[in-house]
Amino acid sequence: DTGGYEHYLLKEISEQPETVARTLSGRLDERFHIAHLGGLNMDARETRSFRRVKIIGCGSAYYSGQIGAQLIEELARIPADAEPASEFRYRNPVVDPDTLYVAISQSGETYDTLAAVQELKRKGGRVIGIVNAVGSAIAREVDGGIYLHAGPEVSVASTKAFTSTAIAFALLALHFGRVHDLSPAEGRRIVDGLAKLPAQIEEILEQGPAIAELSRKYAVHPSMMFVGRVRGYPVAREGAQKLKEISYIHAEAYPASELKHGPLALIGPELPTVAIVPDDELLDKNLTTLGEIRARGGRVLMIGHREPGAKLADDVIVVPRNEIELDPILLTIPLQLLAYHAAVALERDVDKPRNLAKSVTVE
Ligand code: BG6
Repeated sequence: DTGGYEHYLLKEISEQPETVARTLSGRLDERFHIAHLGGLNMDARETRSFRRVKIIGCGSAYYSGQIGAQLIEELARIPADAEPASEFRYRNPVVDPDTLYVAISQSGETYDTLAAVQELKRKGGRVIGIVNAVGSAIAREVDGGIYLHAGPEVSVASTKAFTSTAIAFALLALHFGRVHDLSPAEGRRIVDGLAKLPAQIEEILEQGPAIAELSRKYAVHPSMMFVGRVRGYPVAREGAQKLKEISYIHAEAYPASELKHGPLALIGPELPTVAIVPDDELLDKNLTTLGEIRARGGRVLMIGHREPGAKLADDVIVVPRNEIELDPILLTIPLQLLAYHAAVALERDVDKPRNLAKSVTVE
């Protein structure tokens, strides 16, 4: 039941204020500025014992893991990185006793992720899961974890599970941070930021008609570039992924700083760029990149916070500000709508794109 929406995908994008609230529900402690994550099954001593965090998942789950790795590094100052689960399992990974492994899966049934978890367990690794489907294969295999409580996701392209996974990582990073050196004041800043997200997502969804207009304008191009820096880079990757999955427009994501080391050769009037430009400490660097693109006749659609970039961009989608660490979650929402409306404009099979399955349960 699409609940009156034309597609499951639009329903699932539109549900995010509620699904995000469900992921947060009962987990924010306003007194001690911590996160309650009972499902981790880990006491404080064990939580302090990890020296590294390794995150694995496939597709959009992997990109949300990249956001997660940055959150853990920024808030808890524990080295963290994300890798596709398939690559991880095929390269005979070194399993380190001082590393906490985190497996991400909406369905909990993706074979590559499950096989990676089994390989880790066989080698004695400690693995937790961030999973949506309760009681799924990966949820049963891990030592503990965080359920998203986002409800069933039907459309093949992941949207609400992506945002809820990023939020689960923010909770995990807050939890690790407060067990280590994140101060109560910093903890409060993150708790307050998380609590604001549902209403801010609602504000972005209200821009739906304007974003649909922009989608129709850009969907005439056969290819698009997505760029972002540091916190904006996984957002760019997820934006490119959404666009290619459902509209079949070719899209490539690059760290903004890498443009000049290769792909700048492609930039010109025929290849527009979607630039993720939050108002963080990298704003000036990002504005320089916009200038470089414009100087080569490239069109720019900027997703960000305020006007300075607007002069350098052909089009702008402004999202509300949160804390800089949490901004990637909000910056992703317009990209979901952009891909959705491009797919509709091109009359694609939005919920069941060709050649893809919701969950790949075979090798
Ligand atoms: C892919 C889906 O096959 O699997 C993606 O098309 C999804 O949308 C990926 O992100 C991972 O799925 P899951 O269920 O493990 O999160």
